[in-house]
Amino acid sequence: MIPQEYVQEVVRRTDIVDLIGSYVQLRHRGRTQTGLCPFHNEKTPSFVVYPENQSFYCFGCGVGGDAITFVRKINNLDYVEAVKALAGRAGMPMPEEDDKAGRLRSRILNINRDAARFFYAQLTASNAEARRARAYWKGRGLSDSTIRRFGLGYAPTGFHACREHLKSLGYTDEELLASGIIKRSQKGNLYDAFFGRVMTPIFDLRGNIIAFGGRVLDDSKPKYVNSPETMVYKKSKAMFALNIAKKSTSRRYILCEGYMDVISLHQAGFDTAVAACGTALTGEQVKLLSEYADEVVLCYDSDEAGQKATARSLELFSQSPIRVSVLNIPGAKDPDEYIKKYGRERFETLLNGTRNAIEYKLARIKEKHDVASPAGRLDYIKEAIGLLAGRVTPTERDVYAGRLAEETNVSKAAILAQLDGAIAQARRRASRQRQEALMHQGVASQIKVPYTMGGSEALGVANAEQQLVCALLKRPELIARVKQRILPERFLMEDMRNAYTAICGCQARGVPPELGVLSGMLSEEEISTLSQLLARNYDIALTDQDVELYMDRMERSLPRSREAGKMSVQELDDYLETLRRKKGAEEPGGSPGTTR
Ligand code: GTP
Ligand code: MN
Repeated sequence: MIPQEYVQEVVRRTDIVDLIGSYVQLRHRGRTQTGLCPFHNEKTPSFVVYPENQSFYCFGCGVGGDAITFVRKINNLDYVEAVKALAGRAGMPMPEEDDKAGRLRSRILNINRDAARFFYAQLTASNAEARRARAYWKGRGLSDSTIRRFGLGYAPTGFHACREHLKSLGYTDEELLASGIIKRSQKGNLYDAFFGRVMTPIFDLRGNIIAFGGRVLDDSKPKYVNSPETMVYKKSKAMFALNIAKKSTSRRYILCEGYMDVISLHQAGFDTAVAACGTALTGEQVKLLSEYADEVVLCYDSDEAGQKATARSLELFSQSPIRVSVLNIPGAKDPDEYIKKYGRERFETLLNGTRNAIEYKLARIKEKHDVASPAGRLDYIKEAIGLLAGRVTPTERDVYAGRLAEETNVSKAAILAQLDGAIAQARRRASRQRQEALMHQGVASQIKVPYTMGGSEALGVANAEQQLVCALLKRPELIARVKQRILPERFLMEDMRNAYTAICGCQARGVPPELGVLSGMLSEEEISTLSQLLARNYDIALTDQDVELYMDRMERSLPRSREAGKMSVQELDDYLETLRRKKGAEEPGGSPGTTR
């Protein structure tokens, strides 16, 4: 850890306007500065810098934070690296490298690099095993230059070759265990995590090797073994080959299921192919991709599992600015096999004829129903109309209603009439939800309430929790008093609970709860939320009385929330569900809101 005082000094010596101004053209607007957001594509400025509290916030994409967050995001650095970068900029000497965690981290990266070299040397050695491994990669159609480009290798059989080699380079067993390259058996013996497998290193954005995937050379099981999560490897954040793809001039990415697919595509010249490693796609990966890609083509396996993953991923992408389309691969199980069978030109043709999300979903719906029978046709139309009544533009609606009419031999007018009915129904539902949200101070719609908290009962509380935290950021002198009344467990929203705990911690150590200090204790997303709160309350004075109200609200709405704090997610869910039911019974058909 870097000493808190050092971070404070770095932040103090950094002027956020100056810093951001070197990346973004800023214009004065009152006491703030605005410009075009560097984190998403926009034509009118919604990116605001607040010199007074040294923060920034983008009203367009919701990214925000302090100087450290900004440097992290714009240069893809971790916290420590960002502090160092800012220190360098401010001409400060670097903090002592007594940072134990940081040292282990860089040891692990070195271990991975040396392991990758070892695996490569094993692949190119002149023995029977190496020849077999080389034959495997060749059999999969990979050229020598692809093998070098991806740093592919081979982990020899036996259980100790890798460990012995790395120990000879001076790494300790403890370090090797922390890197995941060796394991400890139940009996306590140490052995290589990978043996008798062809190896694929997984790189991070800066080109560090953070993990490995190893595949058997035959049909034995398990087919793949991947590194465990370590200090340097978080599965949900890694994206295979993104370090290469980000250098491409194209912003149209191809997302595959496996890394063999990615390697094959790159070899065939598609340099924006990437894959999530050994997990289903996560929201974090989507966010990461959206920094590089404008468009993503989903190119999963053609089996049922691949189609399920496609549906899930479409959902995730629908909440990002990325345009998404789906490629299906006729006559092959995955892109790797397709390219081998039919060549790169035909794959290119497929790429240009991808289906957008609506077309894909309509096709999937159609497959489910027997459209040869009248009943099946009706079911198909009904379900398709449900889809078209959702998030679809009027033009798209018209086009697909027309196609649906042709396909089913039903008149377009009839389909449009049904569609109108479905849209009106969806509107009524949405408007009810909006009203509900507006009742909670008009800002409630911006609050992400965890779904486990169940509906409107929680909304007012969520808002109160956010406002309370914001008040403490703006007026740290209130912390001592609030602390006596509100325990962290009372917070229902995890991010606010974490923020509150961190703020109280600062106060206890006599450190001001500035974003710069907090960003070492909270996640990037949490810091973003805090800067959003500050932006939202920028011109609003939060009085003592407001703070009292927030605390009242938190205590009143869930009288048992101290117990709630101890509940598991499931219990809390059930509890809130009973509260909601009770409420529904009291006010049949009435407003679900709570009054302030
Ligand atoms: P090949 O048979 O080498 O072509 O594999 P593939 O790329 O077609 O992989 P597949 O579609 O079978 O699986 C896709 C991805 O899931 C792989 O890249 C791995 O990340 C992961 N995976 C597949 N099998 C296993 C396994 O047995 N264990 C683990 N941990 N991951 C696996
Ligand atoms: Mn495959």
